[in-house]
Amino acid sequence: MNLKVPEHIRSIPRYVPGKPIEEVERERGIRHSVKLASNENPLGPSPRALAAVQRALASVHRYPDSSGYELIRKLAARHRLDPGQIVLGNGSDEIINMLARAYLQPGDEVVMPQPSFQMYEIEARAAAAIPVPVPLNHFRTDLAAMADRLTPRTRIVFVNTPHNPTGSLVTRSELEAFMARLPEGVLLALDEAYIEFVRDPAGPDSLDYVRAGRPVVGLRTFSKAYGLAGLRIGYGVMPADVAEVLSRVRPPFNANLLAQTAAAAALDDEGFLKETLEVVHAGVDYLQRALVDLGLECLPTQSNFLMVRVPGEGRQFFEALLDRGVIVRPLASYGFPDCIRVSVGRPEENRRFVEALRQVLGR
Ligand SMILES: Cc1ncc(COP(=O)(O)O)c(C=O)c1O
Repeated sequence: MNLKVPEHIRSIPRYVPGKPIEEVERERGIRHSVKLASNENPLGPSPRALAAVQRALASVHRYPDSSGYELIRKLAARHRLDPGQIVLGNGSDEIINMLARAYLQPGDEVVMPQPSFQMYEIEARAAAAIPVPVPLNHFRTDLAAMADRLTPRTRIVFVNTPHNPTGSLVTRSELEAFMARLPEGVLLALDEAYIEFVRDPAGPDSLDYVRAGRPVVGLRTFSKAYGLAGLRIGYGVMPADVAEVLSRVRPPFNANLLAQTAAAAALDDEGFLKETLEVVHAGVDYLQRALVDLGLECLPTQSNFLMVRVPGEGRQFFEALLDRGVIVRPLASYGFPDCIRVSVGRPEENRRFVEALRQVLGR
């Protein structure tokens, strides 16, 4: 069609999602495959969230509570924040979108690690702003180099900790040294999608900075540790004046009824979260040992996934694993052509991945 597409929209790279199981099975004519590609919860959704969703189903002819009263009240109590400091999103993705729409003008700069979660670049470009990617240093976010790239046009800085796809953390002291160099008027967005899995006590927590009134937005999600990726629910914690600005661009019913209900129930399901963390941490430890036994290099991780270097092209390993019904993520699009990322699954899924990898390696 002969419609004019603005150049800044043409420049947006397409988001590459993990392959859905159904698609892989259809394409390859296989069954019983395992998906270890999108860092989802291997245990499924929280049973309490499931029960709450079932009860709420009969009310889906109603619009959801646009203010998200119940869920926000719960989150505020849990995090010791004022309800006015929390904004719900259709996934934490949508908080990134709202930040970009609310704060970016054409030509503004957005500093981010390279590689990092693709949505930072996509939303910056969609707002006609300029992404400023700063390479990792030894697979870690290089906050000193990012500080060197701040200019009077910088509006937002994205830091993802633990970092996807490396699993590395920034430390509190590194982050605070960076914040000391942050000029007034720049918002620091700390993407903490995987924070529940962190075992290293040196890691930062956005809540400390938000409570202290710093210009920090913490991005949190129910998609990972809480097992609700398919419902799409996340939130941001932030200074109240930032939340007020975001409320101007937030679509009125962005967090749907089932998602709000499930998230509130999942927050109360402490047993499920505990079990999730036990399974994931045991899975990380098992996979690290098994990969080393196979002679492979994998990065230490503070998350629910591992980045693994393979002898050859990550893409070929991805394909060969797919043929064996195991879906992982090739990392060429992240700039690591000889790596794959594997999400931690249930014990039998992890063993299946290791066995498939052993076959592909011919060991
Ligand atoms: C670093 C990072 N941030 C944000 C998200 C998005 O999470 P949500 O499902 O809440 O939109 C993901 C999902 O994979 C992620 O890896």
